[in-house]
Amino acid sequence: MATAWTWSYEGYEPSKERLREALCTLGNGYFATRGAASETRAGGPHYPGTYVAGCYNRLTSAVQDRQVENEDMVNLPDWLPLRYRIRPAGAPPGPWLSPDHPYLVDHRQSLDLRGGTLTRRSVYEDGAGRRLTVEQERLVHMGDPHLAALHTVFTADGWAGEVEVESAIDGDVRNAGVARYRDLADRHLTGWETGTEPGSTVLLRCRTVESDITVALAARVVVASGPGAGGEAAAGRNHRVTPRQTPRSVQQNLVLPLDRPDAGAAVDKTVALYTSRDPAIGSPRQAAVSAVRRAPAYPGLLASHRRAWADLWQQVRLEVPGEPGRILRLHLFHVLQTLSPHTAELDVGVPARGLHGEAYRGHVFWDELFVLPFLNLHLPEISRGLLDYRYRRLPAACRAARGAGRAGAMYPWQSADEGREETQELHLNPRSGRWLPDRSRLQHHVGSAVAYNVWQYCQATGDTEYLYSKGAEMILQIARFWADSATWDDGLRRYRIRGVVGPDEYHDAYPDAMTAGLDDNTYTNVTAAWVLTRAGELCRDLPDIRCRQLLDRIGLDPAEPARWDDISRRLYVPYHRGVISQFAGYGDLAELDWDGYRKRYGDIRRLDRIMEAEDDTVNRYQASKQADVLMLGYLFSPQELATLFRRLGHELDDDTWRTTVDYYVARTSHGSTLSSLVHAWVLARVHREDAWAHCEEALTGDVADIQDGTTEEGIHLGAMAGTLDFVQRGMTGLETREDALWLSPATLPQLSKFRVRLRFRRHWDVDLRIGAERLRIAVPDDGPPGVRVVLGGHTHVIAPGTARWLDLPEG
Ligand code: BGC
Repeated sequence: MATAWTWSYEGYEPSKERLREALCTLGNGYFATRGAASETRAGGPHYPGTYVAGCYNRLTSAVQDRQVENEDMVNLPDWLPLRYRIRPAGAPPGPWLSPDHPYLVDHRQSLDLRGGTLTRRSVYEDGAGRRLTVEQERLVHMGDPHLAALHTVFTADGWAGEVEVESAIDGDVRNAGVARYRDLADRHLTGWETGTEPGSTVLLRCRTVESDITVALAARVVVASGPGAGGEAAAGRNHRVTPRQTPRSVQQNLVLPLDRPDAGAAVDKTVALYTSRDPAIGSPRQAAVSAVRRAPAYPGLLASHRRAWADLWQQVRLEVPGEPGRILRLHLFHVLQTLSPHTAELDVGVPARGLHGEAYRGHVFWDELFVLPFLNLHLPEISRGLLDYRYRRLPAACRAARGAGRAGAMYPWQSADEGREETQELHLNPRSGRWLPDRSRLQHHVGSAVAYNVWQYCQATGDTEYLYSKGAEMILQIARFWADSATWDDGLRRYRIRGVVGPDEYHDAYPDAMTAGLDDNTYTNVTAAWVLTRAGELCRDLPDIRCRQLLDRIGLDPAEPARWDDISRRLYVPYHRGVISQFAGYGDLAELDWDGYRKRYGDIRRLDRIMEAEDDTVNRYQASKQADVLMLGYLFSPQELATLFRRLGHELDDDTWRTTVDYYVARTSHGSTLSSLVHAWVLARVHREDAWAHCEEALTGDVADIQDGTTEEGIHLGAMAGTLDFVQRGMTGLETREDALWLSPATLPQLSKFRVRLRFRRHWDVDLRIGAERLRIAVPDDGPPGVRVVLGGHTHVIAPGTARWLDLPEG
């Protein structure tokens, strides 16, 4: 039965299996494994996949007579395989069983979010009425990020005999999880070596073809003495485990007696996974073998795994009643499985699709914009680690800017290991079968997202050390890029940034233009103005000596910040018919027959593909994939946005903003899961009654897989984390600035009561409860100072060890 902490699926449905695999992925921020059944191999409804964060490899493929290079997060050897068959006394062995076998009579799987385990119960019955019940529990260890385990219990019903078990580590794997990539090279592994070790242990080692990362997995397979049994070693002596090696895989076979009808037999498979990217090891092989040998028996492993999860849940508490709360908990579970405290120790960014599948090749986009603000107030060390990923790639971003003839840092739209641009050159439209140029790399606004995240992290944590060191360097270099990208237009008497693509990726050129890109994308310009303003402030705030050092180090003319100030006030923001234009000329594009398209196609989220397949292009129409101008309402509070516009010489009154919101709501197809989230966020303050529909769509995006079946290729991490932040910051209006928590709640009826516990500065458990008319804030007794809270224009200081009820302001 489903509860607030479980996520269950009754019955086996092959057509939904890949989706369930993605949603039942287990991970620990270092690696993750899809929830594929251990009896199956890749193909048909199954796609087992194991991914280590940051483990990429580059391959070249021939596409349409061109050589194109793609870098992928590598699908690593599959550690899951474990299949079985029954050997009834006096009869020949039965067939190898799996959920696809007709003998399956019952199947149920359940994800325990609290303890981080996946349990499957399958019942098989053969033609002679012999029943075998198999209960399997799986974990990917949250405490020791290199370990994983399968605990499998067999029970015979109506027969006696043996069960034969075959376990393997399969290195013969490819990156074949996304059908659209099927024409591209997919063999990322080479140099397989297998071996056996004392103590029922086998080993497989291989390396990635180009990035030359060595990967080693060791598995120990032993017999435990039944359900709940703890004594694997003793039982193990009685059952020989026979290893077998093939060039790319290694197997272990064993036979267990099932001679008493009511007693079960159990097998435990413990796996260790290391790569040559890991610190503090001799070699991956030696590390994997000794880790698996050292690992305690399954009950001990399970206990320490659960403890690690309990610790983590303690640090990230968001309590929302009802079904939304249940989905949010699942979202939080997957966020923490992708980005855990272990991630903070690695050199990795935020993979857009989690470690849950191969869509977008495990690349890092601007999606961290939807993830870090949430983490900042719970596990800021993870945010800092993720910002460090960007900092280490600052030199690459500066090289990219230089290559484009600009100063400063041009962060790539898609980033992977080196930090160079990894956006594919061509992408396939599965509707038309045509390969098309991919111009999304012109989304230079990703740089503003990096700067925004640095700023937000520092505001939330008060980490001035970071702001004044790595943070300042990133912000200044990004500002420099924007300043150098802006060109003065004498006619407009404004600065312009031309030839870019905004968050709405549908528009990548003007109709019939020979060149790619658009001019004066409002989102790009306003966020650039924000970065330039912040960079100027930073130069003023930095201690003199640090400022001189920094300017000297990055070769920045001390007169440059004055120019930034000028540009930040005079960047062009186009308008048409009283609304803010998405880019210059947007208002001149044709109107789309939305009803007609909806009638003809039903789901028109991927309007770009539909139109291209009709030999038309969405570039000709006022039709956006996702929030673009409206993203500004996501990043900035109404007051901050009005201030930014005022600085740019425009009065952004409520009416103009409301008309702008209405205009784009009517012209957006929501071809990205990020879109409904942002619309919910913005509408919650503009048209409260319309917000919930978008929120619901954001909540169900992955669990109901509403984006064209894409969840099976990986979860949408930005949207998952974004829904958490929708409650945490969207509903509360929470901002962290000037050393205070600023609150301006605007809750929806469906989300009007919730509780969130935050880490703010030195207080690790600030308890914020929101109700329909009042909020309560409690500060733990961790010593002074208290927490300053600003609500409805009044400042309250909540002393340590006290709690306060505050009335929500009218309206
Ligand atoms: C969206 C981007 C997003 C990317 C990765 C695309 O569909 O348009 O905004 O960064 O997915 O999640």
